[in-house]
Amino acid sequence: MSTIHTFQTSKRVVLGKGALENLRNQLFPFEGAKRVLIVSSPFLKKNGYIDLIGKQLNDANMEYDVITDIEPEPTIEHIETTFKRINRHPFDLMIGIGGGSVLDVTKLFSVLLKNDVSVKEMTKGKTISNKGVPMILIPTTSGTGSEVTPNSIVTLPDEELKIGIVSPHFLPDLVLLDPTLTVTLPKTITAATGMDAFTHSFESFISNKANPISDMYALESMRLISRSIVNAYENGSDINARQDMLLGSTYGGMALTSAGTAAVHALAYPLGGKFNIAHGEANSMLLPHVTLANLDHIEDRMKTIAREIGLLEKDESARYASELLIDQIVRWTQTLNIPQDLKSYGVKEEDVPALAEAASNVTRLMNNNPKKLSVLDIEKIYRKLL
Ligand SMILES: NC(=O)c1ccc[n+]([C@@H]2O[C@H](COP(=O)([O-])OP(=O)(O)OC[C@H]3O[C@@H](n4cnc5c(N)ncnc54)[C@H](O)[C@@H]3O)[C@@H](O)[C@H]2O)c1
Ligand SMILES: [Fe+2]
Repeated sequence: MSTIHTFQTSKRVVLGKGALENLRNQLFPFEGAKRVLIVSSPFLKKNGYIDLIGKQLNDANMEYDVITDIEPEPTIEHIETTFKRINRHPFDLMIGIGGGSVLDVTKLFSVLLKNDVSVKEMTKGKTISNKGVPMILIPTTSGTGSEVTPNSIVTLPDEELKIGIVSPHFLPDLVLLDPTLTVTLPKTITAATGMDAFTHSFESFISNKANPISDMYALESMRLISRSIVNAYENGSDINARQDMLLGSTYGGMALTSAGTAAVHALAYPLGGKFNIAHGEANSMLLPHVTLANLDHIEDRMKTIAREIGLLEKDESARYASELLIDQIVRWTQTLNIPQDLKSYGVKEEDVPALAEAASNVTRLMNNNPKKLSVLDIEKIYRKLL
């Protein structure tokens, strides 16, 4: 295994309740910017956050335009049509405020303004040569970690596929982590995105590419999420729990940028593409079963996680610690009302071979998995959920 590890992240991260109303104090690196584009989704129209940003931009002598119609799970077509509305304007700063969908589109707009490459060409691997327009990203969900990853994920509906475009130019200049923005998240999204964030850190920690830097972020992320996921779900206005979830998901993004996710994500992708199962729900369902399949390769790491998240009162065997951790994951999914059954989403026995084939073709992630899983191994995992 290589001993050289890489870590990259966003330039500046500001954390805390009220970070958004203090944006003005963070605008100094963008001095001279004249025209700003704020990118967001419909839910932000109502709650006054756009006005709060706009007022602070005006105080800094910046004018702004707003787009509030970014769709969830954005398609190439949606992104390119929306971009046509803005590409003649001389924007010199982008602010993306919203969930992963909005942040990913903001990243694309930023580079589209400075490169002669279409989104379609990017999905086919064409290089993005030039740095984009400077960017501020402000997450309002706690799951993807997109604010600190060099990835932008676009949906190809005809091919029932999602593609990740990767470029260092997608890392923003400034990230605001303000837990106040996440208190309005509905329960189902809190549950699914929270478990997605936990899975990012869990898989980064057991990945073949795990390393001392990613381990630090992954463990702290799992510690924060495990102490707060149930509180955030049951009492959405618990600001401390919301901050733990937000920071936990950002740390998860930092960990996975360095170490990568593995088989859970590989098996979740075809479930999202073909059956529209929410990404975080698919991960939560798969996590205990993929972990059991990997177990003989990861027991020591499982024990470290169990100890760090406070499941062990005294020294126990790695096998026993692993069982405790798997039980805890299953209990979370029950408490968070995440289904444990693919049948309820319309998946049938005869779909399993094609799902397993598709998952096994996600080699970028399967190669990170600590144990080699054959197509038959993968079929067995899906069948446990039928
Ligand atoms: N770039 C990355 O590194 C990365 C990683 C994983 C996933 N993704 C992508 O991110 C997208 C999913 O992002 P997501 O899970 O954050 O969800 P999302 O951005 O799709 O948002 C889901 C829904 O929640 C609403 N919403 C967002 N914040 C809210 C709030 N505070 N209160 C109430 N409603 C709110 C949105 O308007 C939307 O309707 C997918 O396209 C996925 O492929 C990106
Ligand atoms: Fe994920």
